[in-house]
Amino acid sequence: MLENKVILITGAAGGLGRATALAAARYGAKLALCDLHQAGVDETAEMARALGSEAISAPVDVSAAHEVEAFVKSAAGAFGMLDGAFNNAGVGGTLSRTHMLTEEQWDQTMAVNLKGVWLCMKYEYPYMRREGGGAIVNMASVAGLIGFPMNAVYAASKHGVIGLTKSAAAEYARYNIRVNAVCPGYTDTQMVAAIEDIRPGMVDKTLESVPMRRLGKPEEVAETVCFLLSDRAPFLTGQAIAIDGGLINV
Ligand SMILES: NC(=O)c1ccc[n+]([C@@H]2O[C@H](COP(=O)([O-])OP(=O)(O)OC[C@H]3O[C@@H](n4cnc5c(N)ncnc54)[C@H](O)[C@@H]3O)[C@@H](O)[C@H]2O)c1
Repeated sequence: MLENKVILITGAAGGLGRATALAAARYGAKLALCDLHQAGVDETAEMARALGSEAISAPVDVSAAHEVEAFVKSAAGAFGMLDGAFNNAGVGGTLSRTHMLTEEQWDQTMAVNLKGVWLCMKYEYPYMRREGGGAIVNMASVAGLIGFPMNAVYAASKHGVIGLTKSAAAEYARYNIRVNAVCPGYTDTQMVAAIEDIRPGMVDKTLESVPMRRLGKPEEVAETVCFLLSDRAPFLTGQAIAIDGGLINV
């Protein structure tokens, strides 16, 4: 499905980024992987190579413009092009009442989850434009579609990602660059484990209202992302796709 496509993935040291990297490797993609944490992203690249993919990896803070710019340039340089990107890196926000958030907590979540996605698109776009097309998938969340009481900054950042996605999709459609967002519900990664550590029982309580009554699996999100990055979705752009076991419908 992704044979010889060059795909960049941020936040690829674990969780959804790693699962997508490995799925993309199985589908034949060449990978440029980055994360704040070098050891984890190097390990993901090693796992991708074991699956037969060509993969490079580097430490990158997606909230730092110069780091994102340099990484996108090195990725396109290493493979000679950039076909797709999964702008996935993110942080879990702060469990707090809205008015209790500090300015620092607000700025930190926004810098990674929203500005980070924008910076990635900013530097990915010129390569895709030059090559006559591409596909971008941005990581939002069900918290980009509905409110998230006790984590307003996270919800605000993810609603922002969807606004960014729809706007860029409309701008870039004429250049054959598709831009979509994925909106997972609670999915079994370190991020959800951290919520459970801080507020034991919170995840289970949410699952009671999920029609499928379970956490998502990272591989389930990865499959949707690979489809959106592939040529099998040529008329699909500007969408925010929930992968949530039915959560937002009830
Ligand atoms: N797990 C869920 O339930 C869930 C649901 C909806 C959306 N998401 C989103 O999925 C994405 C991946 O999260 P995950 O669940 O795999 O959790 P995770 O914590 O395993 O992965 C997040 C990755 O992003 C990296 N990262 C954090 N800040 C960074 C920065 N400034 N620069 C580069 N990398 C950075 C982390 O090091 C980590 O490897 C996030 O954007 C998250 O908001 C997760």
